[in-house]
Amino acid sequence: MGNSIQSDKLNHRTRARVRDLGEVFTPEAYVEDMLQIIEKENKNSWKDEDISFFEPSCGHGNIVAAIYKKRINAIYKKALSHSIKEAPLYAVANALNTLWAIDIDEQNIRQCRSRVMAITIDFLKEKMRINLDKTLIIKNKDFMAHVLCTIKWHIHENETLSALSNKSCAQNAALKTKSGSKWFTKNGHQQIDFQLSWSSFFAECEDKNLVPINFERALKLLSNISAGSSKGLENFEFAKELIIKDTEDLPKLSRTALAV
Ligand SMILES: C[S@@+](CC[C@H](N)C(=O)[O-])C[C@H]1O[C@@H](n2cnc3c(N)ncnc32)[C@H](O)[C@@H]1O
Repeated sequence: MGNSIQSDKLNHRTRARVRDLGEVFTPEAYVEDMLQIIEKENKNSWKDEDISFFEPSCGHGNIVAAIYKKRINAIYKKALSHSIKEAPLYAVANALNTLWAIDIDEQNIRQCRSRVMAITIDFLKEKMRINLDKTLIIKNKDFMAHVLCTIKWHIHENETLSALSNKSCAQNAALKTKSGSKWFTKNGHQQIDFQLSWSSFFAECEDKNLVPINFERALKLLSNISAGSSKGLENFEFAKELIIKDTEDLPKLSRTALAV
């Protein structure tokens, strides 16, 4: 069975959420039509790693998931045709580091991250012919730690209008919507720097002989998972899906303890 998250788990919509967040998600068929417009403009859109994608109010990720699938598959094919070693890892790393998504709602961000995580695991297992999540983790611990950190870095809670504004106009920008204003008052200004992908941030840290705390946490979590423990999962909650699914693989983990 794959990791893809069932659609019923994604249905938490209520009237209040539609009113307060404008939460009406784009159906998959419409997403596909929209992405075809991008493709018509530039047929290399999906495989070109110089292009980055940004979803400014991603919801639970209908558009993000579709873009990400197209990106990993197109970059993977390109990598194979250029005889790039470890093409599946190359495709995931490049697709993730050029994909950004934000939303003001914590629950939506968590679901969006989980979906991207699930797509990543399914893709890597299929292309690398690996049956179990645990085997994938053990064989590629460093890489999977980067996957966890990249998803957390690139898909995050933020308010669109202020995130795209500099300090002097951020507040005015956020005040333009009621929901944005409420979020901004609570969380403040968090400008996005699209140049600072997870991989650039990590390289900057390496230059200073530093290891990002989240990377250390991710490595520890993956070691724990390999040893049958879920300790450290609170730092990467969106990875829960992956762990719950593999309980036969991880006999020491308790389903109840991991339930959302
Ligand atoms: C209409 S839904 C669209 C979700 C997604 N883009 C899709 O097409 O399926 C709108 C989303 O915008 C988010 N949102 C509302 N105001 C926002 C703001 N000021 N900044 C960021 N996200 C916001 C809501 O939480 C909600 O998930």
